[in-house]
Amino acid sequence: MENSKEQLAKMMNYALELEHAARIQYLAHAELVKGLNAEAIIKRLEEIASDEEKHQVKFRNMIGNYLGSEPSMSMAQTHKAKDIENILGINLKDEKTAIDFYKTIYKKIVDSKDDLPYAFETLEHEVRHIIMDEQEHAAELAVLLCFNVESGAAAKEEAPSKKSAGTPASKYRCKVCGYIYDPEKGDPDHGIKPGTPFEEVPDTWACPECNVNKAQFEKIN
Ligand SMILES: [Fe+2]
Ligand SMILES: [Fe+2]
Repeated sequence: MENSKEQLAKMMNYALELEHAARIQYLAHAELVKGLNAEAIIKRLEEIASDEEKHQVKFRNMIGNYLGSEPSMSMAQTHKAKDIENILGINLKDEKTAIDFYKTIYKKIVDSKDDLPYAFETLEHEVRHIIMDEQEHAAELAVLLCFNVESGAAAKEEAPSKKSAGTPASKYRCKVCGYIYDPEKGDPDHGIKPGTPFEEVPDTWACPECNVNKAQFEKIN
């Protein structure tokens, strides 16, 4: 039967393969969204890719130097994506998979404490911190995903029709005076019926408070 060091090395080698794949996937996805007006997301994807690279180094070090095994050079499966929402969703799912798997590695480390006289503290520390990093990645992707679904969707052509079909219409704020256009209320004093989405308000409409045109409004929610 394998000893716990060998078992841990095997688990960490799969973790290393996940990190290889994660890094390549983030870089490929960052490349894919280029030109889609998503600089903030691109930057974040590239930063996460560099975190994954640091994780690769850490896992390689733990496998090679603390567990006496050979670090894997293979790569786990990568996942293709077609748009920003898809990219965020896929990577969020992959981060969650990694977190679950790394938690089983962490448990194995803790359970094997007595078999790891020289390695325990390093392994425990490193894996705990990698899990925290991945949790941060997942949290950020989740936030970006919410933000993208709610407001960034305007960048996509098919978004408006999808939006009016499902989710409630957004409120808009006048950047000049702060007046908020609420589609539920409309602006009946100026001929806009309650229930009119901002997108359907005619361009001739002006802010009832300060009289600027529609272009001065920004989406909120
Ligand atoms: Fe990672
Ligand atoms: Fe990650």
